[in-house]
Amino acid sequence: MTCQLYNEDCLEGMKRLADNSVDLIVTDPPFAVGLTSNGIRGTYEDLNLLRPFWELCLTEWRRVLKDGAQIYVNTDWRTYPFLYPILQKFFVPRNLIVWDLMWLKAGNFYRYTHELIIFASNGAMTRTFSPSETDIWRIRCVINRQQQKRRHPAEKPVELCEKMICNSSREGDTVLDCFAGSGTTGVACVNTNRNFVGFEIDERFFTVAQKRIDEAIAQREQSLF
Ligand SMILES: C[S@@+](CC[C@H](N)C(=O)[O-])C[C@H]1O[C@@H](n2cnc3c(N)ncnc32)[C@H](O)[C@@H]1O
Repeated sequence: MTCQLYNEDCLEGMKRLADNSVDLIVTDPPFAVGLTSNGIRGTYEDLNLLRPFWELCLTEWRRVLKDGAQIYVNTDWRTYPFLYPILQKFFVPRNLIVWDLMWLKAGNFYRYTHELIIFASNGAMTRTFSPSETDIWRIRCVINRQQQKRRHPAEKPVELCEKMICNSSREGDTVLDCFAGSGTTGVACVNTNRNFVGFEIDERFFTVAQKRIDEAIAQREQSLF
């Protein structure tokens, strides 16, 4: 098993990956809508600034992904309508998974209790998970505890990434996460014996992620001996 995390813009880093070398993408890009600038809330139209980025990113995904490989992209209700048509140009959208956070988040107009996960494939795919699996996943989100703070404001539960990885890849496969944050996908890869390639542009989060992945590797090695 290999785990390679780079403190780098994924658009740059992906250029080094070989064609057809990735079996699965599990990633959680910044949602970007709802951010504020000078106290002014962003709008849906602001996402157009990101269109060139996504065109380049998905071009790379298509180059590095094997035929039939599966893709999971975390998103929210505002970003989904923007991402869908771009994604559809490159891949086959298969479903929209509703992740029930099992927790109440802030929200003026109905409290938020879910996020969305786009599920797509690189061309034709064979289902690799049970036919009884549903598209609503109930997994408790990471919450701020008094003593143990979240490692990243958007930290995802390891269990969520493990589910995507186990459903859509085999042991020894290679999983790519272009927006690694605190390294949750990397930790899930270590736990499930997959190879991991990740990129995180922010040095602080890269450091957190690298430490977390190293600890997960040490823990796994200890459990094996
Ligand atoms: C939503 S967070 C991911 C959180 C992660 N799933 C976790 O559990 O910690 C998205 C991350 O993408 C990083 N990012 C944004 N643009 C990037 C780029 N072009 N290349 C690599 N990382 C990027 C941000 O710094 C941020 O940490």
